[in-house]
Amino acid sequence: MRKIASILILPAVLLAAQSAYANNPLAGRYLAANCANCHGTNGQSVGGMESLAGYDRGRFVQTMKAFQSGERPATLMHQIAKGYTDEQINLMADFFAVQKKAR
Ligand code: HEC
Repeated sequence: MRKIASILILPAVLLAAQSAYANNPLAGRYLAANCANCHGTNGQSVGGMESLAGYDRGRFVQTMKAFQSGERPATLMHQIAKGYTDEQINLMADFFAVQKKAR
């Protein structure tokens, strides 16, 4: 009985160990939705705020890391950036880089 239980549990443990985003093609879009309030839908800002649409991938990652470390001073992005893992930042970078600029 014990053996059967471990056979059943093992795949579940392996699945849980995998990234939650591995098989989700929309992961970048979902994460980026958290930024829409200030940076516009899909990063297309129509106000005074910086657009993230079309943002260079490398520059995005670098900027988010600089916010996290405090190297780049910010009023609130240092706090927001700290809420994301490297993997999540990479997914958002991929997403924003291919969005068309609003203007
Ligand atoms: C509550 C408003 C708000 C939200 C939500 C927000 N930001 Fe920001 N963002 C700002 C402000 C304000 C700045 C200017 C830096 C500062 O003072 O924090 C900024 C600046 C940035 C910059 C630098 C832009 C540049 O080139 O100067 C990036 C990149 C950025 N935000 C990414 C994000 C990402 C990614 C998210 C979502 C995970 C996000 N922001 C969510 C307000 C916001």
